[in-house]
Amino acid sequence: MAQLPIKKGTDGILRQRAKPVPKVTKKINKLLKDMLHTMYSAQGVGLAAPQVGKNLRLVVVDVGEGPLCLVNPVLDQFEGTQLDQEGCLSLPGVVGDVRRAAKVRVEALDENGKPVRFIAEGLLARCLQHEVDHLDGILFIDRAIKVREA
Ligand code: NI
Repeated sequence: MAQLPIKKGTDGILRQRAKPVPKVTKKINKLLKDMLHTMYSAQGVGLAAPQVGKNLRLVVVDVGEGPLCLVNPVLDQFEGTQLDQEGCLSLPGVVGDVRRAAKVRVEALDENGKPVRFIAEGLLARCLQHEVDHLDGILFIDRAIKVREA
């Protein structure tokens, strides 16, 4: 597994809309594993492909319930709200309070190309909303009520 460099701050790729993945190939599977390794090494709970310079709709998360790899994730059925502090591996040194849905439904393909669908709540729901935002070129500082030094 490789540890990939994380794109920071004003890098243009963080502001692009990422492209759908047409097929979950071995190469995509390896990229997801490298993303997980990179996320764990940086002590993050989520990472999106644009953060490692890949303009693809891929995210990995682990909020302490085990690793989750998602290809072309789509969120819907947003319910309730939660307000809590967020940070981002691409924006070291700053945090902010972000209002997110408390509960979302997730549809995606897993690292083997198998369709998955589940309801996420709490921290997992927050993390998935943050990561899917990355796929649309949105950073948490765009949504934060107050951004401050970490
Ligand atoms: Ni982030």
